[in-house]
Amino acid sequence: MNEAKIDWDNLGFDYIKTDERYLSYWKDGQWDNGKLVTDNQVHISEGSTALHYGQTCFEGLKAYRCRDGSINLFRPDENAKRMQASCRRLLMPEIPVETFINACKQVVKANEHFVPPYGSGGTLYLRPYMIGIGDNIGVHAAPEYLFSIFCMPVGAYFKGGIVPTNFIVSTYDRAAGNGTGAAKVGGNYGGSLLPGKEAHDREFSDCIYLDPQTHTKIEEVGSANFFGITKENQFVTPISPSILPSITKYSLLYLAENRLGLEAIEGDVYLDQLNQFKEAGACGTAAVISPIAGIQAGADFHVFYSETEVGPVTQRLYEELTGIQFGDIESPAGWVM
Ligand code: COI
Repeated sequence: MNEAKIDWDNLGFDYIKTDERYLSYWKDGQWDNGKLVTDNQVHISEGSTALHYGQTCFEGLKAYRCRDGSINLFRPDENAKRMQASCRRLLMPEIPVETFINACKQVVKANEHFVPPYGSGGTLYLRPYMIGIGDNIGVHAAPEYLFSIFCMPVGAYFKGGIVPTNFIVSTYDRAAGNGTGAAKVGGNYGGSLLPGKEAHDREFSDCIYLDPQTHTKIEEVGSANFFGITKENQFVTPISPSILPSITKYSLLYLAENRLGLEAIEGDVYLDQLNQFKEAGACGTAAVISPIAGIQAGADFHVFYSETEVGPVTQRLYEELTGIQFGDIESPAGWVM
């Protein structure tokens, strides 16, 4: 795609082929030196564990064009560490944090002209992933691995961006209690396709998943994390071993407490206690902060702040987070690089 054809002000969250991606292979116990390549095709053995047994994990992070034209990466070290945790869970070789960050920087530099202009609201989304490859048929770890990072300019993930939308509580479970819910692995997302489609067909933005043991507590909002602002001005986000540890969520916990003066809590969010919240939202790299207008749970529809307006605390959190990401607001040490 020639960047001259991109409508920067109307980007969706869609695949666009950019110029170069990073590619590295692991074989005989070590990673090669990695390099940038221009093709976007993956040629692998039909026996690859990624194809049959879901031995695949990924990350998502963004590069931001600042007012002065420079480019920020937001907390890539945290993505690197989370990917290492996913690799450990799926018996895959870890990528060193420095290699991961360096590869992200190479990809951004090589595709610099695809980073949307400051003020457009768009960002360059980086998708690092690792897959088990090589000839194999038994259910065990792959003999070889591929690690790659590609990127594309994106806009809002949920329709309209910082606009309240509705979500529906799913009757499906996203993850098992001691399963892979906390790892960013392909299977978690494959399993969410049907529940997601059923939610979209009913005009909801996505599903809300409950805890798999008791089905009484909110765990996730589709592929993002949940947060609520209580009437006592507490920022509350669910805690559970089967939730994906969102880097945006942890950033918001910090900002809520240290910049907005809220009490920040990771705790249980019971479905029958939604009345305690005056505002609620979904957060994640792709979702950024997406206000939740209302939640459909069975026959009940619970509205938070408003079905059309963004709550003031959610708005302030959004401005603080994106202000840091785009370099307009001073960042906590080490968050942008
Ligand atoms: C992200 O926020 O980066 C995600 O991974 C969500 C989704 C696009 C899979």
